[in-house]
Amino acid sequence: MAEKILVTGGAGYIGSHCVLELLEAGYVPVVIDNFHNAIRGSDALPESLRRVEQIVHRPVLFQELDITDGAALQELFRKHQFSAVLHLAGLKAVGESVQKPLEYYRVNLTGTIRLLETMQAHGVKNIVFSSSATVYGDPKYLPLDENHPVGGCTNPYGKSKFFIEEMIRDLCKAERDWNAVLLRYFNPIGAHESGMIGEDPQGIPNNLMPYVAQVAVGRREFLSVFGNDYKTDDGTGVRDYIHVVDLAKGHVAALKKLKENCGCKIYNLGTGTGYSVLQMVQAMEKASGREIKYKVTARREGDVASCYADPALAERELGWKAAFGLDKMCEDLWRWQLQNPTGFSKN
Ligand code: UD1
Repeated sequence: MAEKILVTGGAGYIGSHCVLELLEAGYVPVVIDNFHNAIRGSDALPESLRRVEQIVHRPVLFQELDITDGAALQELFRKHQFSAVLHLAGLKAVGESVQKPLEYYRVNLTGTIRLLETMQAHGVKNIVFSSSATVYGDPKYLPLDENHPVGGCTNPYGKSKFFIEEMIRDLCKAERDWNAVLLRYFNPIGAHESGMIGEDPQGIPNNLMPYVAQVAVGRREFLSVFGNDYKTDDGTGVRDYIHVVDLAKGHVAALKKLKENCGCKIYNLGTGTGYSVLQMVQAMEKASGREIKYKVTARREGDVASCYADPALAERELGWKAAFGLDKMCEDLWRWQLQNPTGFSKN
């Protein structure tokens, strides 16, 4: 019988791509989401998952549910026998987290505690957690491997990722029948190559590539490049951009790792290559055939000069490696943007 996997936050950008890969790999994903970062479709499903159904020609099991609602979680675990959980739900806007720290800690920490308690109560002790390279803070050396010190980030969003990692590590130490894979994402971009699902930020995008794509499509006039006086080749920030489909496949590899009774494992999901803001603008101009106007402005508080992964451990232990390069990431992002100039909503 196919294994049922609970996917929290499965209607979002990364979540919907994970759901698609799970279906392709023969799992039965059960998605919960509270529509914080997802648009409602024509029926009970989020629009992102309605599109996943169209791509894979199979139904997606979905329930509207907030992870801070412990009673609803209990009910859900009574209804389904899960073999593992992909935990992606949480608040994720760095700037907003500085303004609303309690909100971020309430949702991300309380939500995760409720989830872990419910899992424990129902004997489901396998989890893949969506962490972030932000836990490394300002890199002391590059590329970043998993042994680099953590906890150095300065905003509540990043700290919440670090605290959750620590909680899960402590739980695995205390109870040997727990298995966890903590995935430290670098910078996910791009979209499924169908162009039917992709990133759909609400309001003004905080992250670079959704913003660049909106400039290319004519929704925004120009990009603000946050500083060109960093110690990098062209002075702009360098990041490790990874295709979201590669990232999603990393979750399937992590699920397989749990089967080995691995205890608590931590992996970077990145490509190992860093690109500057201006290199990204250039790559997107190539993919779109459009000029992308930009102006250099002040640095953004909290940004580091360079951040890229050593992804060797994931290749060694998960048998996973990013397959797609920069051109493919930009081509797929552009297809999604062009086919959906206003994202999942109709206007
Ligand atoms: C950001 C978050 C990080 C989070 C990650 C994924 C901050 C400080 N960090 O990472 O915690 O895990 O997103 O959601 O927000 N840039 C511009 N102009 C823009 C936007 C970005 O020049 O309009 C530059 C940034 O200075 C940076 C690069 O582009 O050098 C990438 O920025 P972004 O996409 O926001 O990702 P991170 O800052 O790496």
